[in-house]
Amino acid sequence: MTANKVLIIDYGSQVTQLIARRVREAGVYSEILPAWATAAEIKGRRPGAVILSGGPSSVVDPGAPAFNEAILELGVPVLGICYGLQLLAHALGGVLATAEDREYGPAQLEITGESPLFEGLPKSSRVWMSHGDKVDVLPSCFKVLAGTKNLKAAAAADETRRIYGVQFHPEVHHTEIGEQLIKNFLRLAGLKPDWNMASFVERSLAEIKKRTGGGKVLCALSGGVDSTVTAALLARAVGPDLYCVFVDNGLLRQGEVEEVRDKIAAHCRLNLTVVDAADLFLARLAGVEEPEAKRKIIGHTFIEVFEKEAAKLGRVDFLAQGTLYPDVIESVSPHGPSAVIKSHHNVGGLPEKMNLALIEPLRELFKDEVRVLGAELGLPEEFIWRQPFPGPGLAIRIIGAVDAERLKILREADVIVQQEIRAAGWSNKIWQGFALLLPLKTVGVMGDGRTYENVAALRAVTSVDAMTADWARLPYELLEAISRRIINEVSGVNRVVYDISSKPPSTIEWE
Ligand code: XMP
Repeated sequence: MTANKVLIIDYGSQVTQLIARRVREAGVYSEILPAWATAAEIKGRRPGAVILSGGPSSVVDPGAPAFNEAILELGVPVLGICYGLQLLAHALGGVLATAEDREYGPAQLEITGESPLFEGLPKSSRVWMSHGDKVDVLPSCFKVLAGTKNLKAAAAADETRRIYGVQFHPEVHHTEIGEQLIKNFLRLAGLKPDWNMASFVERSLAEIKKRTGGGKVLCALSGGVDSTVTAALLARAVGPDLYCVFVDNGLLRQGEVEEVRDKIAAHCRLNLTVVDAADLFLARLAGVEEPEAKRKIIGHTFIEVFEKEAAKLGRVDFLAQGTLYPDVIESVSPHGPSAVIKSHHNVGGLPEKMNLALIEPLRELFKDEVRVLGAELGLPEEFIWRQPFPGPGLAIRIIGAVDAERLKILREADVIVQQEIRAAGWSNKIWQGFALLLPLKTVGVMGDGRTYENVAALRAVTSVDAMTADWARLPYELLEAISRRIINEVSGVNRVVYDISSKPPSTIEWE
């Protein structure tokens, strides 16, 4: 008997979780296993269908993640995406080649074959490609279902065994037919749409209870949506065994400590301790310029502070954090071999040896899903719609070394950004808007005198899930108001610039 779920095998794509997310959006539960999972692990999950992710390797490279025959022995429908298709083709006797034109970006897909995978889809649509290799000769059991200008077999299938492969990425927004294609795949696999946030809560609570088994849990709370939702979930699971700690690391925004403390007291019945560790963090960061070094120092110091707090409570075994999927995927590859982009403080910045075991119930979710979860848990809107703020705080928005004086300048500039964005009615139209302080002085003229002061930068982006982002087209009047106020009111800044980069190739934060 198979279970009503999809097993996703991760070959190291940056967007494997997007596949999981699309499957969840279609109402079906999914689990991810790494490429090197054993046959027993794969079979033990009893999936009703399997999806093979993309990945950065070439199938024929030495050390590239290999295909596990156990996947086909399950006898359930399989969908290979990009690297997944190439693996399937290679395993079934096809021939791969390096594409003459590596394809990154949009392509026009023409559907040429009949298949339940393409049921109800337009014959021609825009899809997203990202590959260097291609299938040159298909295995004899495969028939071509669709192609593009550069690619004869952009989709192929062995319909009798229900094995499908697509070279494009149905999981990304830019693939117009992506959502429907995944729904079609789930339907042809006979999977029922019975997953929702309420069932996620139920399963999470059961998992947390089983794991903690009556032990005490310390929760790192920052007042942001991720950690507040984590705390609310844990409070339901372990009740009085939950101890929330809010660390004032000296890298927070103006008035943030008081604001968070008051809001938690007003809206959530959480046992909260505020620890003032600002001096410790600033001393450790003194003179440090390199972004990864800053992130690691902050991550390690956080854990040190938590362990000290834990020791005061007697025996504490667990540390709960609001780590999300984009934090994980950019820091380490949890399930497979994808590239490290930056060490998010609560993931890659952790010391190797820790006395507390980690509980990260949101680890596979995206921010917008966490917001839905927050609403499901009954958190007030003001928590759910708080702008993201990175764990390493203002330290990664002060480019170069961090000190009290530069923190003061940035805090003052940032307050103005927040006030003006709110006043202009732009808070809900953007993902994030904030100020940065650059390690750069320029000449200006103020009154009749020459100034030689710092440059502040303004970053505002739109995004759905922080995996990709675009610079926000803020109105000139708003940009002008922010710039004028910062230069007039913040002592130490005489120039403001606006960041017009998208992610990728840039990132949202600068470090
Ligand atoms: P990037 O800069 O990687 O940021 O494009 C994506 C989103 O994540 C936030 N961010 C962090 N959040 N710990 C966090 O909890 C971190 O270390 C961290 N670094 C970046 C960032 O603000 C953006 O919303």
